[in-house]
Amino acid sequence: MGSPLNQKALRVGVVGAGVISAQYSASLERLPQLQITAVSDVVPERAQALADAHGAQVLSLEALLASPDVDVVLNLTLPRTHAEVALQAIAAGKHVYGEKPLAMTVAEGRDVVKAAAAAGVRVGCAPDTVLGTGIQTARALVDAGRIGTPHSATAFMTTPGHERWHPQPDFYYQPGGGPLLDMGPYYLTSLVHLLGPVVRVVGASSRPSQERTIGSGPRAGESFGVTIDTHITGILEHASGALSTLIMSFDTWAARLPRIEVHGTGGSISVPDPNTFSGTVELFDAASAPAPGPDADLETNWVDAGAGAGYVDSGRGYGLADLALALEAGRSHRANDEVALHVLEIMESVQAAADGHTSVTLTTTCERPEAISEAIDLTV
Ligand SMILES: NC(=O)c1ccc[n+]([C@@H]2O[C@H](COP(=O)([O-])OP(=O)(O)OC[C@H]3O[C@@H](n4cnc5c(N)ncnc54)[C@H](O)[C@@H]3O)[C@@H](O)[C@H]2O)c1
Repeated sequence: MGSPLNQKALRVGVVGAGVISAQYSASLERLPQLQITAVSDVVPERAQALADAHGAQVLSLEALLASPDVDVVLNLTLPRTHAEVALQAIAAGKHVYGEKPLAMTVAEGRDVVKAAAAAGVRVGCAPDTVLGTGIQTARALVDAGRIGTPHSATAFMTTPGHERWHPQPDFYYQPGGGPLLDMGPYYLTSLVHLLGPVVRVVGASSRPSQERTIGSGPRAGESFGVTIDTHITGILEHASGALSTLIMSFDTWAARLPRIEVHGTGGSISVPDPNTFSGTVELFDAASAPAPGPDADLETNWVDAGAGAGYVDSGRGYGLADLALALEAGRSHRANDEVALHVLEIMESVQAAADGHTSVTLTTTCERPEAISEAIDLTV
């Protein structure tokens, strides 16, 4: 059973108690800023299991939205209902925090942002991996000038495809899925934290396989058609002038590519997997590079930068805890709708640029969210 209600906690109504809800449940169990008070799922047994773990009530969606015991709706449904559930929550006067992406399209995302502004409620959105020590330590190095002026980054996500392990993988190969919308939010949100907003993109994409074959579960061996591009490359021009190079691929058997690197006039940073909350950040400082010579090995100049900034030992749900603290302090929350809408527009624009063989100028922008400049444990 969950802990007794902490009077200062933001009361959370969870909508969607599927696979990812277990990670939120584990975080919320230890975060004093948040308390799950209600759960709703179209499959009642799933809602019951999560509710039982937190001493919460199982409610219909309508009842959850109307409940005086819910301050914020945690929307863990599938991408196609992210905007719909968010709009319902906003109409009920609740804050809402959802899984990524913010919506299926920028047009839908704009509706959510506008409705929230009109209603005076907050919208938060995953990923909150960017608030962990991995991205925040890298960000602290950038902000402290440890690589001089940052001028470029690379962001690579490659896999042979989710159908190898996912028993119902069709949606990954239909509009709204694909490597860009599924995994892009982790990489692009990180790039926005590290280098700021994007003003223009180019892109190219391809569909090397027209069919995919399911690798596990009751449908193993079954093939299905692919209706979207599954290998996407892009170049992002940031407002700062920095350039990021992107590969998002479900068509790569094996690669030795780094996840994210940031390069500057005075050095480079190796950034850990942005789909995790921590990991090793490495710094290459040009000032301490070996002198040129036949035996000079630049590789020896990389050093472990530690984990000096960000929410320590964090997990999914810390973005919502940050929102709870932000409400109390009257500041803006970091995993916010402005960033999420901008990231959604970057993704939509890379695909539009690829489809149109052109470059696309973005219409949205965002503030770089405030850095978490030291290591902070939110559980104490
Ligand atoms: N599974 C992962 O590893 C993972 C990782 C990171 C993020 N995510 C994101 O989390 C979200 C959910 O993914 P998941 O893997 O948990 O999916 P899932 O299918 O396991 O869970 C979704 C749940 O939402 C419920 N649901 C759908 N519509 C509903 C509605 N209108 N009202 C109430 N309940 C409803 C479903 O019954 C289901 O239990 C997605 O946006 C996904 O991108 C998933």
